[in-house]
Amino acid sequence: MQTMDAIRKRCSLKTHLSSRPVDAEDVQAVLHAATLAPSARNTQPWRFVVVQGKEAVDSLVDAAFSEKSAVIREAPVIIVACSRPADGATVEGREYYLYDLGSAVQNLLLAATDRGLVTHLIASFDEDALKRELRIPEDVRAVVATPLAHPSTASYDEAAEERLRERSRMDVSELTFHDVWGKRIGHM
Ligand SMILES: Cc1cc2nc3c(=O)[nH]c(=O)nc-3n(C[C@H](O)[C@H](O)[C@H](O)COP(=O)(O)O)c2cc1C
Repeated sequence: MQTMDAIRKRCSLKTHLSSRPVDAEDVQAVLHAATLAPSARNTQPWRFVVVQGKEAVDSLVDAAFSEKSAVIREAPVIIVACSRPADGATVEGREYYLYDLGSAVQNLLLAATDRGLVTHLIASFDEDALKRELRIPEDVRAVVATPLAHPSTASYDEAAEERLRERSRMDVSELTFHDVWGKRIGHM
């Protein structure tokens, strides 16, 4: 899959998770992709906790996730993306740890899509409970989690088809100003 294919096809698919095991090589590859992200002053403030196996996944979901997200217990792997604010760079008063973590997570999602694996970022969890369950230190923020799984359908494309068809995004022209804030020139 080419880069633009992965960007176009990545979508959130927590309802299409197969419990079939994901190869260790796939897990390693998506984590490696995450580490290739840029970061302010190359601080690399991202950390990941990889939770694998039915018992550990069930225990995490029971401890920290709401009923709405509980479907992620179908996944053989849940990756929790974390960052310690103090590990990130602060530039002119702007803290970059979340920005950098987001870049790394996006790489991870695209690498997963490239391998035909499904993901779905989830931020609504009980952070204190999750940190207790995973023994994450107090000064580290648990920011987002994603299941990593094979699709429950015959192919990734089949799993993503409906979600991609219904995708809603603002148009570039609505989001972009030219020369100065507020100046729009319509479609480019
Ligand atoms: C930081 C972040 C947190 C999110 N948290 C949740 C969540 O708690 N529950 C959920 O169902 N989806 C969550 N999502 C998924 C978004 O709703 C989804 O990315 C958005 O609707 C766009 O859809 P797409 O990912 O399929 O393109 C989150 C996404 C991001 C980036």
